[in-house]
Amino acid sequence: MDKIIVLDFGSQYNQLIARRIRELGVYSEILPFNKPLDKFIDSSVKGIVLSGGPNSVYDKDAPNIDKKIYELGIPILGICYGMQITQYLFDGVISPSDKREYGKSTLNILKDSKLTRGLDEKSTVWMSHGDHVDKLSNDFVELGNTDSCIAIAKHKELEIYNLQFHPEVTHTVFGKEIIKNFTLDICNVTPNWDLEDYISKSIESIKQKVGNNEVILGLSGGVDSSVAATLIHRAIGDKLTCIFVDTGLLRKDEGDKVMRLYNKHFNMNVVRINAKDQFIKMLSGVKEPEAKRKIIGTEFIRVFENAKNKYKNAKFLAQGTIYPDVIESNSINGPSETIKSHHNVGGLPSDLDFELLEPLRELFKDEVRKVGLKLGIPKNMIMRHPFPGPGLGIRIIEEVTLKKVKILQEADDIFIDELIKNNLYDNVSQAFVVLLPTKSVGVMGDKRTYEYVAAIRSVNTVDFMTATFSRLSYDFLDLVASRIINEVIGINRVVYDITSKPPGTIEWE
Ligand code: XMP
Repeated sequence: MDKIIVLDFGSQYNQLIARRIRELGVYSEILPFNKPLDKFIDSSVKGIVLSGGPNSVYDKDAPNIDKKIYELGIPILGICYGMQITQYLFDGVISPSDKREYGKSTLNILKDSKLTRGLDEKSTVWMSHGDHVDKLSNDFVELGNTDSCIAIAKHKELEIYNLQFHPEVTHTVFGKEIIKNFTLDICNVTPNWDLEDYISKSIESIKQKVGNNEVILGLSGGVDSSVAATLIHRAIGDKLTCIFVDTGLLRKDEGDKVMRLYNKHFNMNVVRINAKDQFIKMLSGVKEPEAKRKIIGTEFIRVFENAKNKYKNAKFLAQGTIYPDVIESNSINGPSETIKSHHNVGGLPSDLDFELLEPLRELFKDEVRKVGLKLGIPKNMIMRHPFPGPGLGIRIIEEVTLKKVKILQEADDIFIDELIKNNLYDNVSQAFVVLLPTKSVGVMGDKRTYEYVAAIRSVNTVDFMTATFSRLSYDFLDLVASRIINEVIGINRVVYDITSKPPGTIEWE
């Protein structure tokens, strides 16, 4: 299949570039910048994007590329750092700078080109760079500028283009047109990345790979594992067994809903392991967030391992790994600092003695959702907000008890119910209630109350790396607070969390 390769120099926007290209119906893959050319260049590569990145070309260990890449006859689009490294390698002059230009700028088109076809003479673009190109290489011509820098350039003979700004970001008004012009016109790719096709090819390849063997899968009820399970079930039916560990730390009635949908409706083999009591017991007396995360993670693996030992014939372990997980583990930035021990919680270790089956490895989250809908999973399950592996265990601050779990499940259910009823659920990225260990005094009827405080959390975000609190109306917050206080025994005060990320995180623990 024809594809566009995005070489990753470490920009936070890399995934967006590949997604924009896939939105055009063209397959795009992200690879580390230092992948040797002979390991990925073949006749299917129709274009290469050199991404942005945090470095200066003058840094001691600045990422570099093999200059032969420019001689392959494959069109190249260098974005931000990708522009600077290209100019550096073609003897342009880069101006080092300590100050970043970050935000909107006005682009002026100076000369027409295939890349800028359809753009207004002036338009808004998104800048995020320190260094900039001071003097273009003699091999290039300037096609556009802003007040402060050369913004677009093209090689005089070859199909090599450079942009100082970020076309992949929605703030760049004609960004989609630029990526479309590059992909469909300059690289001349015929769009043939089609999810319907992906599903049938994937089913065929799962059948081939699995043969007569058996597969087990850890079903969490979340989008990724559910879509993976449904796809694999289409391919091999009863040879798939899903193990659903009900930690008791899930949303209200979640366990029953998962069983109803996947076991009853989709007719999958789903084994539910009710491990609520042992999770609560393990968490008893534990207050510290990281300790709770570790306990939940370890216990989850223990329960899963015990369960899987019953399936001696299973050769494959299926997982809902998706493309951003794959990119993250190949990332040039390496593992980022551990703020919370995320990925070992609610996940499984790699040494479980199975072959892995990961049918969603090539898909972005929005593509996984589309596949899920095409496979018939109901929209309300597919469009659900993310839910963390440790579940309510990290939304009950300090010690987790059965009573607190029940209180929180009720309150959370009311909040989500009102978001749905008021058509707000799809406008926010993640919403939930946190139960604080603090009690406060209130009055109900004529009686004094002394109960827990609940915090409502709702955020808007694209990538969950940064987030702002949702601007929910006072009237709506009033409605939710009244319902929670009136209907949930154990809560008599509700507060709204207005912390952005950073400096806050989305979850409280
Ligand atoms: P934070 O709290 O770090 O959360 O801002 C960012 C996103 O990650 C989710 N999250 C987790 N997901 N296992 C998961 O699968 C975890 O241990 C975990 N901790 C946080 C969180 O819900 C948010 O969407």
